[in-house]
Amino acid sequence: LHATLAPTPPMGWSSWNSFGAAIDDATVRAMADAMVSSGLRDAGYTYVNIDDGWQGTRGADGALRPNAKFPDMKALTAYVHARGLKIGIYSSQGPKTCAGYTGSYGHVQQDAQTFADWGFDYLKYDLCSGEWFYNDRDTVMRSYYAMGKALQETGRAILFSLCEYGRFDVGEWGRSVGGELWRTTGDITDNYATMAKIGFDHNGKPANAGPHGWNDPDMLEIGNGGMSPDEYRSHMALWAMSAAPLMMGHDLRKSDAATLAILTNPRVIAIDQDPRGVQGQAMRKDGTREVWAKPLADGRVALALFNRGESAIEAPLTPADAGLASVSRVEDAWSGTTAPALVPLYSVPAHGVVLLIVSP
Ligand code: GLA
Repeated sequence: LHATLAPTPPMGWSSWNSFGAAIDDATVRAMADAMVSSGLRDAGYTYVNIDDGWQGTRGADGALRPNAKFPDMKALTAYVHARGLKIGIYSSQGPKTCAGYTGSYGHVQQDAQTFADWGFDYLKYDLCSGEWFYNDRDTVMRSYYAMGKALQETGRAILFSLCEYGRFDVGEWGRSVGGELWRTTGDITDNYATMAKIGFDHNGKPANAGPHGWNDPDMLEIGNGGMSPDEYRSHMALWAMSAAPLMMGHDLRKSDAATLAILTNPRVIAIDQDPRGVQGQAMRKDGTREVWAKPLADGRVALALFNRGESAIEAPLTPADAGLASVSRVEDAWSGTTAPALVPLYSVPAHGVVLLIVSP
């Protein structure tokens, strides 16, 4: 299948990390409003995604209906669209979703058509319920292909997000089933250890990533309160350097200034959204410090020095770390300040990051 909706990694918000299955129509509308009023929409965040917990039962015709928390899906999608945003929904290929709600098994085409008729622009498709769904590559691939094809056959542009935790080398075949992003791991939680394990070590093979096919290390936890500002900056920097989808996961009504500064920094977003779509990776690992580089479309290179350790460090960055013979300009991605050359040593707080954009 040929999919064309995500030339750069998708950006938006999803209900799961902060609300779990306790999501409803009013909250989704409030998130769309907050996305606009907080400036997040104008910073590039587009999708407002309902995760698990919206589903009711099937009618006599087999059509899946929302539960009482979502009285009118068409009105909800119209509300979000009227704010210049897109809206996503969630299902699973099994009879039940991961949280035990009705899945799409046996109703793949019908559900794809329902989502299109309601006006959705994005589907996250999970892998849950019943051991037999998990255990062979062919079954899993076919189930994702069936939904990818059904979505395309609706004629509506619906971005297809694969959530099967990186099983069976999904990066090798995600595009062929119409997917434009695919999870690389199990679920993130709002603490540094889990975030770092995923972001440093399980963010998928860079060779598989690029325009219209992105490794997805899961949604963001920035703003949920379980990490320090330095840790959340590392979270954002890792996702940006990885060309990862940027799906916020906090209550957007409660974004404080520090959270918004991290999420809306235009240089950091530009690293993530660079049109060349290269997934950056570690050039050098030295104990608890990692130096990452991501070549950008205009010839510059995003260069990150991460400190995974428990105490502050001072460490060098060199042109060679960026794959360059020399460096003529250095821009600090967080502050925007520029310098004509790299300095001999950079200070990095515990669990923190120095994030630069260097010019050859
Ligand atoms: C799985 C996914 C999560 C979320 C839940 C919903 O755990 O990985 O992102 O969608 O299911 O039940």
